[in-house]
Amino acid sequence: MSGKHTTILGIESSCDDTSVAVLCGSKIVSNCVATQKIHQKYGGVVPELASRAHQESIIPVISEALEIAGLDIHDIDAIACTRGPGLMGSLVVGLSFAKALALAIKKPLIDVHHMKAHVLAHFIEDETNQTPSFPFLCLTVSGGHTQIVEVKASDNMEVIGSTIDDAAGEAFDKAAKMIGIDYPGGPELDKLAEEGNPDKFAFAKPNIKNLDFSFSGLKTSILYKIRDLSKNNPDFIKMNKVDLCASIRKSIVDILMAKIIKASLEKNIKRIAIAGGVSANKELRRRLKALESEGYKVHIPKFEYCTDNAAMVAMAGKFDFDNGKFASQEIAADPRLKW
Ligand code: KG4
Ligand code: ZN
Repeated sequence: MSGKHTTILGIESSCDDTSVAVLCGSKIVSNCVATQKIHQKYGGVVPELASRAHQESIIPVISEALEIAGLDIHDIDAIACTRGPGLMGSLVVGLSFAKALALAIKKPLIDVHHMKAHVLAHFIEDETNQTPSFPFLCLTVSGGHTQIVEVKASDNMEVIGSTIDDAAGEAFDKAAKMIGIDYPGGPELDKLAEEGNPDKFAFAKPNIKNLDFSFSGLKTSILYKIRDLSKNNPDFIKMNKVDLCASIRKSIVDILMAKIIKASLEKNIKRIAIAGGVSANKELRRRLKALESEGYKVHIPKFEYCTDNAAMVAMAGKFDFDNGKFASQEIAADPRLKW
């Protein structure tokens, strides 16, 4: 299966997904993810439980990824692993395993920056997404991150805007919780929103001049509106659920769209890529796609390469492999790894 292509094993364990992928050339031949369900009942990721679950999953997920790829561990040319940013206990499990494995099979180790990997996921050969040309802007929106990155080259990127409080996915999840949707409520809120009127309720808009995002004012505004309108009508949420979902979704997507367009105008870049779990949002996709009629080029990868996954880590590792950039055994996991 590996042939003459460089074959990279990617390992990602920065948060609550244990993922292992095999990249052959620029093609992904396996991308396996063990998603930790345990956090659902706590309404958010519990770091201690996450690292324990990574320990249980890492070997089975590696075996599964190799089996699907039809490869033996000795067919691998290098091991790429997320070094940070992320949860310390989670990162340590993946990176320690990667270091030990690299030593055991006598192959190079490559350390990967999780956020850069989200951006470089766009270079995975994928029939549904055309590789972007440089420079482009990447909007990364998930439960843990909200950033706009100006990507000048695979090894030259700059964060030009990021959230000063909650991440976009967190905003979706917290708003969903207020209207009785279980964590993580983003996908269900999106589904219900399809049936609702997005203009029924208006919420406060952030007033931030630069390219940074803020969702805390919106969150408070949603909370107060629901509280006030529920005072005389205890069934207010039940009676207005789909309209609340549609209005909340519109408000969050408006914030994201305003900033990506502002960034595009300031940088004079009309190529936009998106990554992160929130890129599944139907309204966000529609609004981004609609930009294509205005001369924009929009890149949306397969959903499995948008959420946290090892395919993107292997792809980022391939860039370093080609540049001969390897990591030493001395490196440590870094929860706040710099760009
Ligand atoms: O990238 P991801 O799988 O994990 C990390 O957060 O790292 O993103 C998960 C986030 C959650 O907050 C989830 O509610 C949100 O992405 N999400 C959505 C949708 N699908 C996932 N938010 C809005 N609409 C969706 N369709
Ligand atoms: Zn991520």
